Amino acid sequence: MVEPANFVPVLEEKELQEGKMKLVRIEGLPILLIKQQGQIYVIDDRCPHMGCAFSGGTLEGTTIICPCHDWRFNLKTREYEEEPLIKITSYEWKIESGKIWVKIAEE
Ligand code: FES
Repeated sequence: MVEPANFVPVLEEKELQEGKMKLVRIEGLPILLIKQQGQIYVIDDRCPHMGCAFSGGTLEGTTIICPCHDWRFNLKTREYEEEPLIKITSYEWKIESGKIWVKIAEE
């Protein structure tokens, strides 16, 4: 089957373990893959506040906390807890042939 050109394989599915984050680069973009409570999230690694890397931050359930100024974002809604209009950028993804594929266009 021919894949749509904008989905790219980034990681073996088994390499992303529960409760962990994995940073990859796609066409120069830092993209963070997270598996939390059985769900996969694929987000831009750069915090919408001042661009710090979420990959250096911490996870608390489905909340990710930026390491620079401790802003807390809900991975499910992508919203900053204090101001829901500020959101993490996320990417569409799928699992196929044992791999996680990410679509480069932002959601
Ligand atoms: S850069 Fe992320 S909270 Fe400031």
